[in-house]
Amino acid sequence: MSILWQAVGRSPELAASIGGRVRAADTLADVEQLLTADSSETLVVIGPDIETEAALAFAAGQRLRRPALGVVLLREHVDVDLLTRALRSGVREVVTAGEFAELAQACERSRALSRSAPVPHAEAEAGKGQVVTVFSAKGGCGKTTLAVNLALALADGGARSVCLVDLDLAFGDVAINLQLDPNRTLTNALSMVGRMDETGATSLLTPYRDGLSVLMAPVTPGEAEKIPAALVTELLDALRKTVDYVVVDTPSQFSEHVLNAMDASQHHVLLTTPDVPALKNLRLTLDMLDLLSYPREMRSVVLNRSDAKVGLSTEDVARVVRAPIAAYIPSSRDVPISINKGTPIWTSTPQHAVSQAITRFARESLVTVSSATAAEAIETSHDSRVPSPRKQGTFARLRKGRR
Ligand SMILES: Nc1ncnc2c1ncn2[C@@H]1O[C@H](COP(=O)(O)OP(=O)(O)OP(=O)(O)O)[C@@H](O)[C@H]1O
Ligand SMILES: [Mg+2]
Repeated sequence: MSILWQAVGRSPELAASIGGRVRAADTLADVEQLLTADSSETLVVIGPDIETEAALAFAAGQRLRRPALGVVLLREHVDVDLLTRALRSGVREVVTAGEFAELAQACERSRALSRSAPVPHAEAEAGKGQVVTVFSAKGGCGKTTLAVNLALALADGGARSVCLVDLDLAFGDVAINLQLDPNRTLTNALSMVGRMDETGATSLLTPYRDGLSVLMAPVTPGEAEKIPAALVTELLDALRKTVDYVVVDTPSQFSEHVLNAMDASQHHVLLTTPDVPALKNLRLTLDMLDLLSYPREMRSVVLNRSDAKVGLSTEDVARVVRAPIAAYIPSSRDVPISINKGTPIWTSTPQHAVSQAITRFARESLVTVSSATAAEAIETSHDSRVPSPRKQGTFARLRKGRR
């Protein structure tokens, strides 16, 4: 069964393309009523006469409440801007009104996705580690520095098992930070696309020390483009079955790969520095994450170089960001020095103010009583984040539009 949300212009052709029994809804209230009455509903098709903003808000709202529900949007005109916004709201497919064959295929794809969508279930999550994605929309804020040292702080000399994944596919420098030879990288995962399991994922890791292993970014130019975004989901899912924490370092763009990492995460660490461009980008990032319906409890804002004398106080920063700051990491020339030496500051000088700030953050925001309990606590409070089934069709279309 499916729902067609459209006030006027319903035609038999339209209903036939959607397929199966189609129930009509004139208003959002009607749609909600039908959905409440039938929790097994898997498809809502939104007609071209429904305002785009209302349609996107509806899709965004359903992402967490009903992850198995697909939303297919019909529009008179489809362009890249619309596709981007629709995708970010969780719409599965956007189809030009009147393209009935295309609509039929879109509905079929959406139904197939709904059939395979995992059902949130706390028990199924037991025994899995937490994925922590470190992100900042402005480059050079210290993502890699934080990801590396946070991974070490979480591993805590071997107390916990941690895997650090370098998702900065084109310019990843985790390997350089840790002076590791990139013999095995994400490129080696290509042969396992579509059938990644724990053994395969573990075979990609390079041991560092004390409970920490690393999945390095590709090194050869051109390899980054070969990594499909779906691989990120597969990999993170497999890795978290093998370690207590997976820490993900990212590039500074909301790429499809980063969004997949965000989807697979239990915790988003959003980094900024006390300067206006970085703060503006953080604000945009927070708005974007809100739009994508990620629960706010799963995010931590970290202020790097918090003591930098740049005319903005920490109060100014908190006001601009409009979110609590979970950690303040001071600025120190010992950080770049440690990177040049190839030994992260957390390892070389654990009592350093930078190392201490990161340890405190790890302890207070990521590790509660024990990693198992923390994982459970976060899983329950975050409704066992279900990978969003928003991608495929719409992204395929986006790419087609760019060619
Ligand atoms: N707390 C700090 N004090 C002093 N220098 C720092 C601090 N944090 C990071 N840095 C320096 O800032 C530079 C950028 O850091 P890093 O590479 O971690 O940023 P990034 O966000 O990963 O950058 P990119 O966007 O290029 O990936 C590095 O030279 C690093 O040593
Ligand atoms: Mg980096």
